[in-house]
Amino acid sequence: MSRTEPSPAGRLRLGVNIDHVATIRNARGGAHPDPIKAARLAAAAGADGITAHLREDRRHITDEDIEGLTDLLNGLRLPLNFEMAATAEMQAIALRHKPHAVCIVPEKREERTTEGGLEVAREENRLAHFIAPLREAGCRVSIFIAADERQIEAAHRIGAPVIELHTGAYCDAHHEERFDARDAELERLRNCAAFAHDLGLEVHAGHGLSFDTVAPVAAFPEVVELNIGHFLVGEAIFSGLDSAIRRMRDAMDAARREAFGEGAA
Ligand code: PXP
Repeated sequence: MSRTEPSPAGRLRLGVNIDHVATIRNARGGAHPDPIKAARLAAAAGADGITAHLREDRRHITDEDIEGLTDLLNGLRLPLNFEMAATAEMQAIALRHKPHAVCIVPEKREERTTEGGLEVAREENRLAHFIAPLREAGCRVSIFIAADERQIEAAHRIGAPVIELHTGAYCDAHHEERFDARDAELERLRNCAAFAHDLGLEVHAGHGLSFDTVAPVAAFPEVVELNIGHFLVGEAIFSGLDSAIRRMRDAMDAARREAFGEGAA
């Protein structure tokens, strides 16, 4: 599709990332709060899918959580977006569970969260071979990358059907009140969403999004899915998970309607 064709703006999907429910559980050990219960609640609140990152060090989500989530979401017919590093161990787990979607993310043990996008351009060959069996197993593969045309082209060349744009730099700049930098990041994200869409890629976005930062990203016509976790779990402390998700959904829909009219949400 070229940039002159109609925009694909329609209803945005909200993937709720439940990793940090597991973070709180793991702070004490035991079973409470249960991320599977959070996923059930998120589904009831209108999440279009559940996202979970099984990190190599299992600092939040565990293998057992992935088993439980797979069973729950299969029953609810809701997609699981399984985030993972490009390692043989994670590939084997994904091939065993065959989640609806697999999002390949960079992972460093010393980082607190996924700090940047995946370096696809430098590892094209390896990543092309890595995602092939996942695609053959029917998983929709997405690649988590920074807003950088080189990385988007590389993701396209390796055969990924989806990219997820890392919105962390934009959100950080907003919360640190570096507004020029924020606007520059937003512009970069906007251009990259259009660039990826022109290549035929499906475009998702996420990382660090909150009630304050979601609207401009939700208004990019090419973006079809947002994945949001940490803010929602934090906000749940004050207002409950159901309310936090519903308010996020409303903010996304309002941004979409404002940008594209009533039919867009
Ligand atoms: N998308 C991807 C690919 C991620 O790795 C993460 C964080 O795990 C998110 C979205 C959600 O980010 P946050 O928890 O900051 O909303």
